[in-house]
Order: sequence, then structure tokens, then C-alpha cells
Amino acid sequence: MITTRYIGELESRAPLFFTDFLIVGSGIAGLFTALKASEHGRVVVLTKKTLKDSNTGLAQGGIAAAVHEEDSPFLHLEDTLEAGAGLCDVAAVNVLVSEGPARVRELMEIGACFDMKDGNISFTREGAHGRARILHAADATGEAIRVALVNKCVEKDNIDIQEYHYLVDLLGNDSSRTCHGALVYNTITGQQSVYIARCTIIATGGAGQLYQNTTNPDIATADGMAAAFRMGAELTDLEFIQFHPTVLFGYETQRFLISESVRGEGGRLYNTRGERFMGKYSSMLELAPRDVVSRAILSECTATGSEYVYLDMRDIPSARDRFPNIYRTCLARGIDLEKEMVPVSPGAHYTMGGIKTNTRGETGITGLYACGEAACTGVHGANRLASNSLLEGIVFGARIVDNAGEILYHRQINQEEIYRNFDHAWVLDPPAEGISPADAKHEMQATMWNKVGIIREQNGLKEAGAKIEHLYRHLTRGDDPLAYMEMVNMLTVARVVIQAALWRRESRGGHFRSDYPERDDLNWIKHVSFVNL
Ligand code: SIN
Repeated sequence: MITTRYIGELESRAPLFFTDFLIVGSGIAGLFTALKASEHGRVVVLTKKTLKDSNTGLAQGGIAAAVHEEDSPFLHLEDTLEAGAGLCDVAAVNVLVSEGPARVRELMEIGACFDMKDGNISFTREGAHGRARILHAADATGEAIRVALVNKCVEKDNIDIQEYHYLVDLLGNDSSRTCHGALVYNTITGQQSVYIARCTIIATGGAGQLYQNTTNPDIATADGMAAAFRMGAELTDLEFIQFHPTVLFGYETQRFLISESVRGEGGRLYNTRGERFMGKYSSMLELAPRDVVSRAILSECTATGSEYVYLDMRDIPSARDRFPNIYRTCLARGIDLEKEMVPVSPGAHYTMGGIKTNTRGETGITGLYACGEAACTGVHGANRLASNSLLEGIVFGARIVDNAGEILYHRQINQEEIYRNFDHAWVLDPPAEGISPADAKHEMQATMWNKVGIIREQNGLKEAGAKIEHLYRHLTRGDDPLAYMEMVNMLTVARVVIQAALWRRESRGGHFRSDYPERDDLNWIKHVSFVNL
């Protein structure tokens, strides 16, 4: 349970730091926004582990943008809207596709190198894109971008990057709906500190760790979404979870992605009986939208009594050179993808919903902004088009800072005002005895995977709701404060995912209900949002 405690108690033990921009999260959205913000003032970037730990660094396929001379923002918009299954915010998508190419060029200027062919950018194709428009750096595009951003950020004197600093909670004033910064926990020293900022930006990524099988690293625990929610921000579209169809089969929670670009370059799916099956499910075959391919794989697994299907890369010319990272990882597991097929199954990959923002990154709480996967700008609708997420991070991160002049002018904070204005921080006050964070995580991930996964239905969702509620109410601190706080955040967001999934009685994009298998445009062209559930 979460109770309030006055900030006065914190003042005596937590040192105060002041900055203009406080950015929580160090993936592409956080670091790109930090670079932009550093043109206007002092920036602090908090990251809960190290700069190496983010979903960005794991992104393989690439970044989509209408950069090719035969492509256009309009074509990119069409594909994004089609994938989003009727729920995209068209104005936000228009911003994404029209501002995207300029932001991608900026990435290149700061040192992100994408693959070239005969002196031109080499584009690849992924599912539901009408043409090849994905810029990539072999099969480790996110890592190339991450390294370029980190190198640039560390050059800047006015960007202060704090690793192992975890967001406990946002600090603010309830009645005026204002955020003044964050209470932060150093996971190495155990020290708490207060960061006061004129502008606090949540860029903490998604919620993949809610699920038993995920491509996301262990840091993807929905922290920013939960903290913003506690402060009164709206969480929206959280029933839409994207499951990536081709994740290397295994029993660990975080599993290795086999990029969709593998299928874009000719990879084919076979069931364990050796039948190429996608023709039964979609005329787009292996490049059908991810939800269609994921359900097709589940259906083939059920029909064959297997836990996986096979991805065949043997006919892709020079697969080893085009996908060196995937090649090496498979080989380390004893699979030579040039000679044999790779066992794959789906895993939770991306959270389409999140903290509701407008196209300026505003959350409705003064001083609080969000970008990247933590935010819901409306560009993804019910299903994100492949490789639009890295693009979203830079386009909308930059847009927050476009208004920096206004933000900094209106938020001249002085220390006295801060003391007067803090109502409280949310401080965690668990029962002395109960379910440990480790046990709760295990149970939550299994429940979410089995009942709130690729295929959902009312009874299962209700059972999941009851289970998550039980865990939420009986969670105890254990001896690891970080694990406990992460667990509170994940359970907070899991409750919203389940309620949203129960509420939406139709199937669309990343939300499939076997009891309502059809898309219902008459009743459901609308969003499910929660405030303070
Ligand atoms: C992939 O490489 O398949 C992932 C790209 C994405 O999720 O956008």
C-alpha cells in the first residue's frame, strides 16, 4: 500500500540539487532530449542502472523515416495509420513523419552511422511498411545510435549524467497540479536525494517486464508511467501491448529478439512439421502485422503441440554479414543460422500506451513532460509500425525542448517557493509481512503472460485482475528496496493494463479478445484512459 508522508521529513535527510531540466531515463528519447535541452540550460539525466542498460541499445531493425527520394512523409503516414488500426492521432502521426527525416539527419550529424550501399543509405523493409524505408546499422541499429548519443552527451559540460539513480517518485503540489522534480534513490549507496527542476521529463521506457517472455531488459519496469500516474497524469491505450513474433526460443524472461528485418529480407516461418504456414493467415505472409504473425505462431504451436516455430534464414544472401549480431548470438546457442532453422516464439516487446501527452510532450501537469515509450503521443494507435519507436523518441523529445524558452521563463523556481509548495512526496509504506518482491514478480509475469497476453478473454482477465490486486495489497518490502519499488510500479501499471483490456470489448491491433474477436469500429474508435485507479 502507498501512503503519504510530508516532504519535511525528507528535507532533513535528503540533499537538494537544482537544475533546469531533469530527464529520467537514458534511452534514445532521454539522451536526444538532453542534447537539445543542453542548448538552453543545465540538464541532469538520471538512469537507474548504467548508460548501457536501455531498450534502445537492444533495438535491432532500425529507424523508419521517409528519407529516400522516392519515399514521402505521406506514404509513411499511410503505413503508420494502417498499422495503428484506426486509433492513431493523425495530427501526431503527421508530426512524426514530417519532422522525422530532419531529426534522423541530426542523429547522423552527431555520429550515428547507418549502412550505406554504393554511396547511398541502404534501406531495409519491415512488416506493414509499403516500401523499404528503415535506416539501419547492420542488426544493431539502436546500439549505434546509443553510442553516438552517449559520446555527444558526455562532451557537454552542462549535462550531468547520474547512473544508478532511481526515480522513487515525482515531487509536486497536488492542488495546482505542478511537478517540481523528483525524489531519487541511489541504488549503490542507498542515499536519497531531491532534484528540483523547472522541467521534469519522463523518458523511462516501457513495461515489458510485466510479462514472463519479453525482449525488454530488466530495467523496463514501468517506473515513469507509475510515478506520473501517482501524480495524477493520465495513462492511456495501455491495453495495446505489442508482442514481437520472432524471439529466440528459451525459458529465460528476457529473450533475444530476431529482428523483423530478417523476414523483410526473405526469412520464412515454418511449423515444426515443416509447413510454411503464414499463407493461411495473411496475404502479406511473413510481413503481416506483428499481432497477426504472433497469433498465427500461437495457433501453429497449438496445432503441432510445440512451444515454438522455426524461422528459416538459409536463403538470405550473406545472412551472416547482414545480421552479424543475430548470427553470433544464435551460434553461441549452438545454432548456425546459415545451415539450420532457428526456433522462435513471440514475446512482449512494446507498450503502445503510456503517459498521455500532446504533441508538445505536455502531460497536463505543469512542469511534467514525457517522451519515448513511456509516453502515449498517439502515434502508434493500437499497433506500432515497426521501427517507428526510435523515431518517436527523437521527434517528440525535441518538441518538448522547442518550448524551452517558455518553460524556463514561466518556471522561475526559488527555494523558498519549493518548500512552501511541496505538499508531499509519495513514500512507500508496505505491510511488515507479505509477499516478497521476487515472488510477486514471478507470479505477476506468469499471470500477465497467461491471461493478459496475446489472446485474452473476460474470465481470464478477471482472474488476472484479482491476482494482481492480491499481490498489490500484500507486497512487502523484503531486503531489496529497488526490487520493492519496481514491483509497486509494475503492479500499478499491470492493474491499468488489465482494466483497459477488460473494458475494451473488441479486438484491434495489440489487443485480441477471443470473446470479442472482431474489430468494432462502430463502438470502439475511442481510447481507454485511467487517472488514479
Ligand atoms: C525489430 O528489429 O524487429 C524490432 C524493430 C521494432 O520493434 O521497431
